Amino acid sequence: MIRTLESQKMEVFDNIVETIGNTPLVRINSVAADLPCTVLAKVEFFNPGGSVKDRIGFPIIEDAERSGRLKPGGTIVESTSGNTGVGLAIAAAIKGYKTIFVMPDKMSQEKILLLRAFGARVVVTPTAVEPDDPRSYYKVAERLVAETPNAILANQYHNPINPQAHYETTGPELWRQTAGRISHFVVGMGTGGTISGVGRYLKKQNPDVQIIGVDPIGSILYELHRTGQYTKAESYKVEGIGEDFLPSTTDLRVVDAIVQVNDRESFLMARRLVREEGLFVGGSCGSAMAGAVKYARAHNLGPDDVMVVLLPDSGSRYLSKFLDDEWMRENGFLESAWVDSRAQDVHDAKSLTGIITVQPNDLMMDVVAAFKRHSISQAPVVDADGKLLGIVREVDLLMHMLTAGHTHTPDETIEAVIDPNVTTVRPNAPLESLIGIFGHTDVVVISSGAQPEGILTKIDILDYLASQHLK
Ligand SMILES: Cc1ncc(COP(=O)(O)O)c(C=O)c1O
Repeated sequence: MIRTLESQKMEVFDNIVETIGNTPLVRINSVAADLPCTVLAKVEFFNPGGSVKDRIGFPIIEDAERSGRLKPGGTIVESTSGNTGVGLAIAAAIKGYKTIFVMPDKMSQEKILLLRAFGARVVVTPTAVEPDDPRSYYKVAERLVAETPNAILANQYHNPINPQAHYETTGPELWRQTAGRISHFVVGMGTGGTISGVGRYLKKQNPDVQIIGVDPIGSILYELHRTGQYTKAESYKVEGIGEDFLPSTTDLRVVDAIVQVNDRESFLMARRLVREEGLFVGGSCGSAMAGAVKYARAHNLGPDDVMVVLLPDSGSRYLSKFLDDEWMRENGFLESAWVDSRAQDVHDAKSLTGIITVQPNDLMMDVVAAFKRHSISQAPVVDADGKLLGIVREVDLLMHMLTAGHTHTPDETIEAVIDPNVTTVRPNAPLESLIGIFGHTDVVVISSGAQPEGILTKIDILDYLASQHLK
């Protein structure tokens, strides 16, 4: 028997727009394993249209209605790389408006089909033309508005409602979700709506929060922020970020730094987010995370720092692009077979594949003897449960015994010589990322939990690369 209890409220959203926002904050583990700071991802593919741009669609349409520019039965026109189109299409579906979207031809086929699925008309324009060329997607959109009766341009590049939506939703969510502990916010810049709205909100709560933009090489925003000079834009493959002009929705005053990333590091990082973190994200998410990791390393972020990286969309729109190995090879982003190698592969290729560990109460002389026996020069230190505590190196043992006065003897324990700052990587960490990590450390421990499973040094990587070359 089905009973309806009047006193019980059903948990129902009145329409899909109400489910937009309040996306989760997820800890990044593997790809930030060598960073002492906390790295969190704001995962925007949880929005119903699959991207951060859902947040601006409805407010833009409501604003046009309030101002009387948009009347019932009207048409919403927008030049969009796809995601804003979906955000507007959702709002238009609910409110009964027609939509026309103008997209540059470098955008993926999935994005075009997706917008058509919402009943939109999609007009594709050439990418390689100047912004004021009549064939540019901005100009084509303007012409369509002029030609279509009762049509408005959503105008995400110049509409103040765009940053305002982030000031009102994304910013407060981040402040609340981090309990005010956010110290760095990192995001790719397209219209700049996200960085400007979030940046303004967070700086109002705490002026010390650092707002960091990520810009693809080829875009003008990095140089413009650094020198105030406009440069000539070049083409690049990452979608949704970077510009060849400064949108008025971008407030560079709230941007503390801009980090440049190239296509290759963006796509390789996006693929790592999918494979190592299980986050099925788009290419610009890789740009944002690659930029965040670079910034955290360059600025020595520490354990008290809480860095939030906004991941704008999902991988489903890029299955035929950077998520496809063939596409990556054709574009020169996956040149050689070893790019697909993992930390575990390097470890398995070593002659000594077991792991030698020592404990804090082991005596120095015993540890030295073990090093000699196994021809190794460092070993992970573990507690009685096998949990990783740090690393002990031959050179540190030597320096300890040679300290002034020769007060230390080989029958002391190794406790005082343990280095707790050891970089760990997951067994599935790509060789590509290890090469980056070895730029600032000489040994990494492989571990998928608390216990060490292997140890790699620079020479192991070199041996592996040489052996692959000979195959
Ligand atoms: C995939 C993707 N990433 C990032 C952005 C940048 O966001 P914003 O336009 O708020 O700067 C966009 C914007 O279209 C996008 O589509």
